[in-house]
Amino acid sequence: MAEFILSVPALEHNARILRAVADASGAKMLIALKAFATTSALHYLHPYADGACASGLYEALLAAEHLGKHIAVYSTAYSKDDLTRLLDFAHHIDFNSLPQWMRFRDLCLQHPRALTGELQFGLRVNPCHSTGHTPLYDPCAPGSRLGVPLCDLHDADLTGISGLHLHTLCEQYTDDLISTIATLEELAAPLLASPAIRYLNLGGGHWITKADYDRTALEELITRLQQQYKVQVFLEPGEAWCIHSGVLRARVLDVFESLGHHHAILDVSVSAHMPDVLEMPYRPRVFCLASPGINAPHGQQPAVCLPGECYDAAGADREFPYTYRLGAPTCLAGDVLGDFSFPRALDIGDTIVLDDMAQYTIVKTTHFNGVAHPSIALLLSDGTKRYVRRFSYRDYVCRLG
Ligand SMILES: Cc1ncc(COP(=O)(O)O)c(C=O)c1O
Repeated sequence: MAEFILSVPALEHNARILRAVADASGAKMLIALKAFATTSALHYLHPYADGACASGLYEALLAAEHLGKHIAVYSTAYSKDDLTRLLDFAHHIDFNSLPQWMRFRDLCLQHPRALTGELQFGLRVNPCHSTGHTPLYDPCAPGSRLGVPLCDLHDADLTGISGLHLHTLCEQYTDDLISTIATLEELAAPLLASPAIRYLNLGGGHWITKADYDRTALEELITRLQQQYKVQVFLEPGEAWCIHSGVLRARVLDVFESLGHHHAILDVSVSAHMPDVLEMPYRPRVFCLASPGINAPHGQQPAVCLPGECYDAAGADREFPYTYRLGAPTCLAGDVLGDFSFPRALDIGDTIVLDDMAQYTIVKTTHFNGVAHPSIALLLSDGTKRYVRRFSYRDYVCRLG
């Protein structure tokens, strides 16, 4: 049976790095729940985080129930009902457009929590400075609906706005953040310096927990921004909290040859269980469990290794003697992971480990084609595996109404 396994020590490793950056720079470090929201795992991140970033009411409710602390909400648009509920417990509510803000401004500013300062409002801005490499994830692309272009802010009435929010990065390093901030300062320094602006939310997409990320440069940038503009900086990474902390383990259901291709059908769907592989698209790292007695070359390991197991890393097409097209048990023709080669022939029942499957996976899954949903387990620091969710036929049926 397929399963997502999330390593608690790996999550805590990331969390310690993020906490250290927050402590060194004075920034508030939030968890973006859109990337990762498994509540049993959030429990372990809770001591390290300053709160959560929510994309709307449901994520904000989850944050209030499972993380507490600071709740920052940014949504591309709010319904009046959702906003009315958020006003009662969120701390920052950031708006995406001036018309939405103007429509709800009185409702917001008259709320008792806004009058005490417990609740503040911000505006997402678009510096129109693209640095990303994936068009699907570029909020600064021409025609973007995400954020008010800075050039449209000059004559705007920003009464009641206390914060600026920008999110422009995706899996990026400090050089791209630094050039984005330079654009922000070039186009909006007077606004940033205005005493009305008390917080600056630099969004997510910062690959802070990657080994080669320049954390000192980030800390220096945050320190300067906070001192120069008298603002509290917030960061809201998602992926950085859980990168290299989870795997999806699948089983081989069938192996056959067709029209010159060797296929291995797995018990997971790319479309239903790891849609980013198709949407982004990208090629995940793949491993197969080495047979007992075979000395697997160590060096590359999946993010989560179970005690006593060793793994063979799959290679590119034909790099190793046995190449297979890894595919899903669905009827979607494109529901394939790609062509991967292995040092040994695959067999029915073999375990295939799909690496780095914590971020933007479990939060995105569906029951498409009625494929069984992988269980979710935590690997604890003492090496024990604790199942936190198993799915059944009823989960599939109930969701469909
Ligand atoms: C507004 C906002 N904040 C934070 C994030 C988290 O980004 P990441 O998981 O890349 O750090 C996203 C991701 O899309 C986002 O849209």
